[in-house]
Order: sequence, then structure tokens, then C-alpha cells
Amino acid sequence: MRYLIAFLACPWLVGQNPAVEYRIQRATSTIKIDAVLDEAAWAAAQPTSDFIFNWFSAGEKEATEAKLLWDDENLYVSWRCQDRHISAYVTERHGPVSRDDCVEIFISPDPRKVTNYYTWEINPIGTMLNRCRTDWWKGPPTWEPEQLRYRTTFHGLAKKDEESTDREWIVELAIPFKNFIRDAANTPPHPGDEWRLNLMRTGGKTNAQQSTWSPIAGDKRSFHTPENFGKVVFIAQNTQRGARARAPIDPQQAEKGHAQYNRSCTICHGVNGAAGDRAPALGAQRRYLRTSASDLYDAIKNGIKGTLMPATPMPDAEVWNIVAYINSLRATAADVPVAGDAANGRTIFHGKGACTQCHMIRGRGGLVGPDLSSIGAQRKLEDIRESLVVPKPLPPRGYQPISAKTKAGEQIRGVVKNENNFSLQVLGLDDKLHLLQRDQLASLTYEPQSLMPSNYDKLLTANELQDLLAFLSKQARVRETK
Ligand code: HEC
Ligand code: HEC
Repeated sequence: MRYLIAFLACPWLVGQNPAVEYRIQRATSTIKIDAVLDEAAWAAAQPTSDFIFNWFSAGEKEATEAKLLWDDENLYVSWRCQDRHISAYVTERHGPVSRDDCVEIFISPDPRKVTNYYTWEINPIGTMLNRCRTDWWKGPPTWEPEQLRYRTTFHGLAKKDEESTDREWIVELAIPFKNFIRDAANTPPHPGDEWRLNLMRTGGKTNAQQSTWSPIAGDKRSFHTPENFGKVVFIAQNTQRGARARAPIDPQQAEKGHAQYNRSCTICHGVNGAAGDRAPALGAQRRYLRTSASDLYDAIKNGIKGTLMPATPMPDAEVWNIVAYINSLRATAADVPVAGDAANGRTIFHGKGACTQCHMIRGRGGLVGPDLSSIGAQRKLEDIRESLVVPKPLPPRGYQPISAKTKAGEQIRGVVKNENNFSLQVLGLDDKLHLLQRDQLASLTYEPQSLMPSNYDKLLTANELQDLLAFLSKQARVRETK
């Protein structure tokens, strides 16, 4: 019996079934630590589940939105704290910041030994307290993490009094993985690696509340209960449900990446992303092996084993610029901002433009032209514009228009879907499929021009054409990764 109790109390066996789980995705852009969460990477990251008010008795439950990201160097943490009463007075390094409004993160890099954990506590004016609660740390109770970067909304103020305009405050933190080298299985982590951690918020003068991401079970009213930490998993790419497959593209970043690419990669790849003598095109219309930003990053950073594609010694920031550039080469109309009034474009599509005579969007319209329900995700904006204003030299495959007259006197006009020496399958302008036997035709004419009109720059005003393009660009059934 005594053995059983000892077994149950074994510190590294507790906390094996965490209440909450979060998947930390790779940062898809560089992150500037400035307490402004405007990077594409933060926008693409999912927040953790809602914080729990473990010991709530009364007052207002103000929300905290926390997110985590990682790259080869850092774990990134952000807190966006809803708060109508923001105050902070502790300015001394390692001072008692949890008396002020305060955010915290406690991290166990080894899930088999959650009792080895590291802490960060930060108030709104940027005062921080750190501890290293591990069995190997023999220093003072406080601890100095290496090369930490962080910023808070009121960073560096001598104090922060409550104000009637208080709404929220933000903390943005980058923790180099090298701080965890003693406890983590891998630094940086390998995709699939599991850690344990908790994110918390405390206090302030008015409406002081305590809340945590992972609920704190048991009688001990303490954040220092690593057995309650939640589970996090480092993932190689964004597989979270509902997340867009591609983050929005920053044109300036892509521009920098373009220059870096032309300088460093064109011994093998072609200039401007075209095919080169020794390597494939990166932005032509073909199916790519690698589509997610993190896969592209990985190919460039580490090379592709068993091929000529080498690893690059470039700093991470430059690699991300090139990833943005490659994504911009591949961007379709739905990925870029398009001027114009999409609502008016819809009206023109169904009305003045008469596009529904031949095209369907979401089940409504004609069959003779291609279904346009996803055109914004399939084509670049320039290609869509060209379809409307530049005649094609030849009708594309599947859209060869013919006019025919049968010996019985029936007139048919439409596009050829299939044909052989004896018969033709024609989709008529009446949206019906006609099977025509060649020997029963009195006449058959292959028309040289596609049925798609190419003079919409004359049929519509410049504004109407722009509005129509805005509408078409938005036709992108949401692409999700599994
Ligand atoms: C020594 C020749 C060489 C150099 C230099 C080179 N590459 Fe490559 N790269 C290749 C080859 C070959 C492949 C195709 C590998 C394969 O078959 O998977 C490739 C593939 C890629 C891919 C994957 C394409 C896809 O969709 O799967 C990316 C992205 C890429 N290279 C980017 C770059 C960048 C960015 C640079 C410059 C920093 C660069 N490459 C420099 C030879 C090279
Ligand atoms: C008389 C029939 C007809 C009308 C009217 C028509 N189209 Fe088309 N459209 C076609 C056909 C057929 C094709 C395919 C052949 C081609 O691309 O030329 C096509 C192709 C297109 C494409 C290219 C699709 C792709 O996958 O690249 C776009 C975009 C397009 N049409 C938009 C429009 C819009 C917008 C309107 C209304 C302003 C319109 N079309 C009116 C018949 C028509």
C-alpha cells in the first residue's frame, strides 16, 4: 500500500492528462516585438481556448486572448487583455508584479517532468519577474533568461494609473529556445514535440481577477501547480481548422524577397521565379509540391535532401521575405486587395453584363462557360481582367464554338465537349447536350472566336468593369487545410 501512495505522488507522473490542448504553429512572417500584434503571423494564429476564472466570486470577467507561435529561434507569446482598470506601480526588476495587473506564463519543456518549470510575470509598464523552478537550478530564487525580447503597451512608464479610457493592454514576448536546453528534448523543438505550460492573468487595484488558460484543479489556490499545466504541441504547419491555407501577403516584404531571390537563387532557378537550367519554376501555373509557407520555409532553410536544392545560410528574416515573394508569385485574385465595389459588381454580373447567360456562380446561371464560383482562388487578377477584355487567339479546349444545321433543318449553336470521326457532343446555348451524327448534318462550322465576349471595356464603364473584377476576385470557396 505504501508503495502505491509513493507511486501516485511521484511528481513526474501527475499532469499526464491535461484539461486543455493548444497547437503552436510556425510563424509565417517575421515578428517585431513592439506590443502591436499586426503581423500576418499573429493574424493567422488561433487564440487559445478562453481563460477560466478558477476562484471567481464577484465582478466583471474580462477576457484575455493569448496566442503562441514558434520558429527556429524563439517561442512567441502574446496576450491581449481586455481591461477597464489598468494600473501598475512596481518598477524594480523581479519586484512583486503580480500585485499590479499582470500576465504570466509558466513553461515545463519536459512533459515527463512538469515540476521543472520556468516563469515569466510581466506588468503593463514592462516590469518583469522570472524564476527557474527546476531540480538542477542552484542559483538565487530569481533567474535571468537569455536574450529575451518583450514589449508592453505602457512599456517604460514610471507608473500607470487607472484612466476612464482604459480598454486593453498587450504584451508581446519572444523567448529564445536556448533557455530551455537543460529540459527540452529538442531546441528548437521538433514538429510533434509536446510541452506543458499555463498562461495566466492577475490583479490590479479595481476588479482584480485571476484567470488561467488551463483550469487549476485541486485545493491549492496557486498558479504554481504544474500538474495543472495544459498541453502544447509544436506543429510544422498550420493544420488548424478554419485557418486560411495562406496568410495575406505583405507587398513590401515580397518586394524585398524578390531582390534577395534574384541575388541568391538564380544560379539554378530562373529570374523572377521562372524555370531555370537546373531547377523548377517557383511561380508558374503548375501544381506545386510545397504550398504552405512553412513547407516553403523548410525547403529554403534546410534544402531538399537527395536533390540539388541546397540549404541556405541566410538569416530567417530573409528566408521569410523570399517565402512571401514566392507566395506573391502564386497569389490568385482572392489573395490580393482589389479596388471596386463588389456588391455593385454582383449586380452587373447578373444584370448589365449578362454573364449568367453562360456562367454559373453557386448553382445559378448558364452552363456554356466555365463555373465561376471559385475563379478568385483559381486565377490571378490579371488573367481575369484579360478574359474580359482581350480576345483569345483560339477557343480553349472544351469551349470550341460551332454552328450546325441538321438535314432535318434544326439549327444548333454551342461548344464542342467531345468529338470523333462520326459524332459530336455539343453543349448548346440552350444549356442542353446535343449528340450530333456527322452524316446527318447539312452544315457544320467551327467558329474561330470563343463565345466569351472580349469587349467588356467597351460594354461597361471603367468603374463598372472594376466593380465586376472586385466581385469576381471574391469568388473563392474557402480553402481549408485538413
Ligand atoms: C544548386 C541549385 C539550386 C539553388 C542554388 C537553389 N535551388 Fe531551389 N531547388 C533546386 C532544385 C533542383 C529543386 C527541385 C527539387 C525537387 O525535385 O524536389 C529546388 C526546389 C526548390 C523549392 C521547392 C519548390 C516546390 O514547389 O516544391 C523552393 C521553394 C526553392 N527551390 C527555393 C529556392 C530558393 C529561395 C533559393 C535561393 C535561396 C534556391 N531555391 C536555390 C535547386 C536549387
Ligand atoms: C455567350 C456566353 C458568355 C457570356 C455572355 C460570358 N461568358 Fe465568360 N466565358 C464564356 C466561355 C465559353 C468561356 C470559356 C472559353 C474562354 O475562356 O474563352 C468563358 C470564360 C470566361 C472566363 C475565364 C474563365 C477561366 O477559367 O479562366 C471568365 C473570367 C469569364 N468568362 C467571365 C465572364 C463574365 C464576368 C461575363 C459577364 C460580364 C462573361 N464571362 C460573359 C462564355 C461567356
